[in-house]
Amino acid sequence: MTEASAGETVSIDTVSGTSLPVVPRHVAIIMDGNNRWAKKHGKGRLAGHRAGVDAVRKVIEACGDYGVEVLTLFAFSSENWNRPQDEVRGLMDLFLHALKREVKRLQRHKIRLKVIGDISQFSPVIQKYIHQAEEQTAHDYKVTLVIAASYGGQWDITEATRKLAHQVQDGSLNAADITPEHIQNNLTTGDLPPPDLLIRTSGEHRISNFLLWQCAYSEFYFADVLWPDFSREEFLKALREFAGRQRRFGLTSEQCEAGT
Ligand code: IPE
Ligand code: IPE
Ligand code: MG
Repeated sequence: MTEASAGETVSIDTVSGTSLPVVPRHVAIIMDGNNRWAKKHGKGRLAGHRAGVDAVRKVIEACGDYGVEVLTLFAFSSENWNRPQDEVRGLMDLFLHALKREVKRLQRHKIRLKVIGDISQFSPVIQKYIHQAEEQTAHDYKVTLVIAASYGGQWDITEATRKLAHQVQDGSLNAADITPEHIQNNLTTGDLPPPDLLIRTSGEHRISNFLLWQCAYSEFYFADVLWPDFSREEFLKALREFAGRQRRFGLTSEQCEAGT
């Protein structure tokens, strides 16, 4: 069986001494289960989200160690705006604090921050800190951390379509010439490789309007653990499983083995 062939990197985990034959270039995660974690521990909803931030730190560090180039985290969906107002407000506070507090740490670990989503929905102060954090981490980086916030895959595709429609309208693009690359390049992730591996925690098996276009050929991995319990070891389990999968991209398994 041929191994997953996304990244060329052979990475040695210096902490556990594990070597991975193939590492995904881009990992995307639907971080789910914060509320169930809070309930299980007899805590309020916000405590669950706060515990989720600790799990985020661990996974970001692991990406740097294993050679993952891009990590995209689904932090807040277009649909999450419809949650109870106190929860939305709490999540916004948490986001703002993280933006203020974590920039230095990101710089230290050579991590570039990129936020994707309809950020016009956020308060002006959050928008300001997003732009600042993006600018301050834009140079000298090894890992790109993409935070999907106020994000929906349908929104992303709609916006890309709107941009192309404008180009057709002003005569710079022929409708007949539109290819999948035009859509790809106009998505918020247009400058990034597509996710090789998509992880969802908490035992739910759905995409919940995440990277709909971009996940066309991602490998899916579902973990039963709730997001705040997602450890470095859990992440490594997903990477190991990915390394053992055969990605066919429509070909037969024989074609893949022959390397055609
Ligand atoms: C994911 O955890 C975090 C966000 C959606 C913001 P949830 O809050 O969805 O937790 P569960 O799925 O209800 O347990
Ligand atoms: C998806 O989780 C969004 C995030 C993880 C930010 P949800 O918990 O909102 O998804 P559904 O509603 O269960 O599909
Ligand atoms: Mg959920």
